[in-house]
Amino acid sequence: MQSVLITGGAGFIGQNLVHAWRRARPTDRLVVLDAMTYAANIRSLEPLIADRGIVFVKGDIGDAELLRRLFDEHRFTRVAHLAAESHVDRSIADPQAFLQTNVLGTFTLLKAALDAWRGPSAELAARFLHVSTDEVYGSLGPTDPAFTESTAYRPNSPYAASKAASDHLVRSFVETYKLPALITNCSNNYGPYQHPEKLIPLMIIHALEGKKLPIYGDGSNVRDWLHVSDHCNALMTVIERGRVGQTYNVGGGNERNNRDVVGTICDALDRAFATDATLSSRFPSCPASAGNSCRSLITFVTDRPGHDHRYAIDATKLAAELGSNCNVDFANGLGQTVQWYLDHEQWWRDVTSGAYQAWIDQNYSFRIAV
Ligand code: NAD
Ligand code: TYD
Repeated sequence: MQSVLITGGAGFIGQNLVHAWRRARPTDRLVVLDAMTYAANIRSLEPLIADRGIVFVKGDIGDAELLRRLFDEHRFTRVAHLAAESHVDRSIADPQAFLQTNVLGTFTLLKAALDAWRGPSAELAARFLHVSTDEVYGSLGPTDPAFTESTAYRPNSPYAASKAASDHLVRSFVETYKLPALITNCSNNYGPYQHPEKLIPLMIIHALEGKKLPIYGDGSNVRDWLHVSDHCNALMTVIERGRVGQTYNVGGGNERNNRDVVGTICDALDRAFATDATLSSRFPSCPASAGNSCRSLITFVTDRPGHDHRYAIDATKLAAELGSNCNVDFANGLGQTVQWYLDHEQWWRDVTSGAYQAWIDQNYSFRIAV
C-alpha cells in the first residue's frame, strides 16, 4: 500500500487522476492538496471525501510548514505533483501567480519531499512525479519532427517558461540531492471536468449559449490532443515503473488544427440536437435548436501574442520502455466529451458564474473579429 500526495487534485487532470487511482489501486491512501483557485472544483470528489476514500486538504504548495506537517503525518511514498497555474492566456495577462506557484511552489514542495525522504527514501522506495507540459519545448514548424525527451527547451509564454523552470528545478534535485523524481511532459488534454476557459469546453459552452466561437488568428495552430484518461494511465505507469531521473513524453498522436477541432465540435453538437429533441428546449439560443449549424458562430479574432504554431509529441520512449500507449480515438473522445458537457450542465454553470465571467470579459473584450 502506498501513501500518495496528489497536488492540484481538484483541478481538471487532478480530479480525473484521483478517480483513476482509486479504481486502479483502491488500497492506497490518497491525500489531495489543493489551494482551490478559480480552476478547482471538488464536487466530483465530495463522495470520496465523505466516505473517507480520500483525505482532502485545502492549502498552498508554497506553504512549507503545512507540507512538513502533511509529510510527517502521512509518510508519503508517492507524490504526484499537478498543482499549477495552467492557462497560457492568463499567464500573458498576469504572469506573477505563475512564478509564485509553478516555480516557487514547486521548489517548496521539492524541498519538503527531500527533507522528509532524506534518510528513508531508499527504504520507502519513494517517488516524486512532476507533471509538466510539451509547451516547454516551444513551437514546431509544419514539417519539423515531433518533440522528443531530448528536444531543447525553448518556452515562449510566461506559462511555458514557469513550467520549464520547474522542470529544471526537479532535474537539479535529482542530480544534486538524489531526490527520486521523474518528469512527464504531455500534450493538450481534453475530457471531463476541464475548466471552460480552455479551447474545447469553451467552444462547446459558447455554442450551447449561442455565443461567438472565437478562434485566435487564422486557426491553423496545431495541438496534439490527449484524452485525460490516457494521460492518467500514463502517469500511474510512470510513477510506478519509470526510471528515476528520467523524463517521459506523453502524447495522444492526434494532431489537429484549431479550425478542425472547433468544426468537429460544431458537427457533434449539430448531430446531438438532431437526435435529442430535449436539447432545443434546454438550449434555445444554440443555432442547432433552429436546425442551423453551430459553425455559423465561428469567428476569427485577434491572435494570442507569441502563439505557438504547432506542438507534436514523440511518445516512443513511454511505449518502448513501459508499454504505455494511448487508446482513445480522437473522434470518439471528442464526441464523448461533447456529450459529457451536455450531461453536466449544472457543473459548468456553477463553474462559469462569477469570477469566470469577469475573465471572459477581460480576455475577449480587446479581441476584434479579423
Ligand atoms: P487546472 O488549472 O485545471 O488545475 C490546477 C489545480 O492546481 C487547481 O485545482 C488549482 O486550484 C490548483 N493549484 C493552483 N495553485 C495552487 C497552489 N499554489 N497550491 C495548491 N494547489 C494549487 O490544471 P490541469 O489542466 O489539471 O493541469 C494539471 C497539471 O498538468 C499542471 O501542472 C499543468 O501544467 C499540466 N499540464 C496540463 C495540460 C492540459 O492540457 N490541461 C497539458 C500539459 C500539462
Ligand atoms: P488552450 O486550450 O488555451 O491550450 P494551450 O494554449 O495550452 O495549447 O488553447 C488551445 C489552442 O486553442 C491554442 O492554439 C489557442 C487556441 N484558442 C483559441 O483559438 N480560442 C480560444 O478562445 C482559446 C481559449 C484557445
